[in-house]
Amino acid sequence: MSRIAGPSGLVVFGVTGDLSRKKLVPAVYDLANRGLLPPGFALTGFARPRWEGENFADVLHESAARHARTPFREDVWQQLRQEMRFVQGDFADDDAFELLAKEVGARDGTRGNHAFYLSVPPKCFATVVRQLKKHGLADPPEGAWRRAVVEKPFGHDLESARELNATVLDAFAPDAVFRVDHYLGKETVQNILALRFANTMFEPVWNRSYVDHVQITMAEDIGIGGRAGYYDGIGAARDVIQNHLLQLLALTAMEEPGSFTAEALAAEKSKVLAAVELPADLSAHTVRGQYAAGWQGGERVPGYRQEDGIDPGSTTDTYAAIKVGVRNRRWAGVPFYLRAGKRLGRRVTEIAVVLGRVPHSLFGRTATDALGRNAIVIRVQPDEGVTVRLGAKVPGTSMEIRDVSMDFAYDGSFTESSPEAYERLILDVLLGDAGLFPRTEEVELCWRILDPIERHWRDNGTVVPYPAGTWGPVEADTMLARDGRSWRRP
Ligand code: BG6
Repeated sequence: MSRIAGPSGLVVFGVTGDLSRKKLVPAVYDLANRGLLPPGFALTGFARPRWEGENFADVLHESAARHARTPFREDVWQQLRQEMRFVQGDFADDDAFELLAKEVGARDGTRGNHAFYLSVPPKCFATVVRQLKKHGLADPPEGAWRRAVVEKPFGHDLESARELNATVLDAFAPDAVFRVDHYLGKETVQNILALRFANTMFEPVWNRSYVDHVQITMAEDIGIGGRAGYYDGIGAARDVIQNHLLQLLALTAMEEPGSFTAEALAAEKSKVLAAVELPADLSAHTVRGQYAAGWQGGERVPGYRQEDGIDPGSTTDTYAAIKVGVRNRRWAGVPFYLRAGKRLGRRVTEIAVVLGRVPHSLFGRTATDALGRNAIVIRVQPDEGVTVRLGAKVPGTSMEIRDVSMDFAYDGSFTESSPEAYERLILDVLLGDAGLFPRTEEVELCWRILDPIERHWRDNGTVVPYPAGTWGPVEADTMLARDGRSWRRP
């Protein structure tokens, strides 16, 4: 059944930025095209560059036409465009915020309901929130709502996350704050819960008795592109492990919640994140790498330090691998290996739950030479689906057992196409449904996990180079080899 937003509007700060043009505006268009936005929906852009009137709508028109998931229909766009406005100004500019307050107040069709999306550099989050409060935009008029949507990374360590949280909660009520982790908006990520809790076949083996280890991989083939200003000094671990990968870990490792409500889900995720433990020797069990020049897709690509806007002496990680444990009865002794990197062999995000070997093998060594471990692989992207890897007899007169795969592919099993993560998340914000947004506690727990690693890297670690287009530094292979394991080559 369709969930349709009530009267409302969305204000996007940083509307001229990459995220807004590639994801947010196309997602708004897709929602309109699917008929999920209310009549009179108002889209207001706020940004520093001087775009005025027509020009603003034209640029967004191009973004939507180029990046929308659903077919582009001019009539849908024209409808949306009627209530589209642009306010130009600096985030510290009081006049611009007064103008914004006027624009927002004038959009009758929204009945005063507005969400403010902070698609701005992290260092500007606090300023924008303070301005919203100062100019009365954070206070909902009688019977209306006001919500703040904050992009990741939420802080750059535990302390700054807490400070930012205090600033946000000084302006907005806790249930009016939506912290975005767009991985939670992905169909395949939500499918982890369906897979685990709507079936009987996985949960019995989902524990230390059967699982040897878990590998969570987020590999990208792209470099940092034009994001030097954001990325340098932040690095792979803060950019995606603190949020996306630890959220994937939480969904994979958590207990079944008492109900399918935002509160119950958040409580279980927090419990498991609180049980995550780091290895004593962080030098042996973490690796940070940085891409050097290499070959990708038949093209020579520059190293990170040669990218535009990057300090040639930068020690920012573009690859990070860490090993963690989960201190509870279900997972004691089972390592979780997390890795994320840019300019790797190919774009793939997956969770592989790798099972142990049979306790006793009926078949001789030669029969099972080519047999790996059984695995349940959740393919988050790009070939969304699930693979179960198991051993099967090779046809012939001798007994030889080899790995084969059983595949479920989204595009083969469903005719419906998956909405883009941002489409789902924006709709949820307008509906006030917080189920797919990490709570403060989760964000803080994730920083608690990452902070000691970042400190260790800062004080002792070196960043090791890997050629672009490969699967990361050899040190990451050594890290697993020490445990008698190896990374999957997706
Ligand atoms: C973002 C990171 O959160 O996720 C980017 O900041 C990364 O560095 C992006 O490229 C990847 O998202 P997706 O949906 O393409 O996996």
